[in-house]
Amino acid sequence: MNGLEIKLTYWSEINRAVELLRADEVVGVPTETVYGLAASIFSEKALDKVFRIKNRPYFDPLIVHVKDRVQAKSLVKEWPEVANVLSLHFWPGPLTLVLPKADIISDKITAGLPSLGIRVPKHPFARRIIRELGNPFAAPSANLFGKTSPTRAEHVREEFSKQRVFVVDGGDCEIGIESTVLQIQDENIQILRPGMITEEEIRTVLKNSGIEAEIHKSESQASPGHLKTHYQPRIPLIFHEGDLSLERVKDLLHIPPQSQIFELNLGEDPFECARSLYAHLREASNSHYDYIFVRWTKLQKHSHWDAIRDRLDRAASFKL
Ligand code: TXA
Ligand code: MG
Repeated sequence: MNGLEIKLTYWSEINRAVELLRADEVVGVPTETVYGLAASIFSEKALDKVFRIKNRPYFDPLIVHVKDRVQAKSLVKEWPEVANVLSLHFWPGPLTLVLPKADIISDKITAGLPSLGIRVPKHPFARRIIRELGNPFAAPSANLFGKTSPTRAEHVREEFSKQRVFVVDGGDCEIGIESTVLQIQDENIQILRPGMITEEEIRTVLKNSGIEAEIHKSESQASPGHLKTHYQPRIPLIFHEGDLSLERVKDLLHIPPQSQIFELNLGEDPFECARSLYAHLREASNSHYDYIFVRWTKLQKHSHWDAIRDRLDRAASFKL
């Protein structure tokens, strides 16, 4: 395919996605973090379908994806200075802000909560879809509830093969894990879900604008739906923090000696690791392996590893 043909293919996929969203359907959409399962925020039917086909509990609210800060402001009741500063710095990008919702936002999206999670995605296709549709879309990650998020179009097609969900192919996701989720109440900030935008970076940006905000880390489950077990691959994941040999770990966990184990090497660069993490977990699950083994070492020290650790921690069936 030459460049022009590629562009035409993308255009027709984007147009098709917009048509389907207008017709109360759900669509797989690439974002820079992970692929989302999108529904127009004004289609109760499509919003219902998102929960139904993901098998997602109705207590877990959806993130709304908007084209810019002006559109974001129109969907919330308050826009504190903290939100202003952080959105100016980090949007478009992998940061979700949770703020008191405006009345036009359906309770289905927020799971009955008075607040709304909102972000401006960076992926050009996601942005184009919002513009062409003429309104924002709500989208959780496009995986079955509790399972690994998709970072390629084929992951979404595989996950929803029975439902034949249409997916816009935007290539591999650049970030690879889900956005940082921040709840903002005046100058009180809570990190509901860690991501590749770290607490340290958020603190620095606010400080540079003269805001000394209090930032709290949430305990395990503050974000509804961000459960203790989540992101689970189809085969059990063993998470080991230490230097026991794999043989010793197998012994301790009574894992049959003939089991096939996929050893996932995290490497030294957290951004590279995040980008390929979920694809590796899926590939290992889809091949002949029985277990995935991940070793956490001193190399994974920098704060950019925190979100990766959070996901592995929740994906693990065994920890030692
Ligand atoms: O990177 C991402 O955030 C991806 C892409 C598609 O944008 N989306 C994503 O959505 O990860 P989901 O639904 O898989 O995770 C959204 C998280 C959930 O843990 C949810 O509880 C939290 O954000 N969340 C959304 N709205 C919220 C709200 N109003 N209050 C508290 N937490 C909220
Ligand atoms: Mg998810």
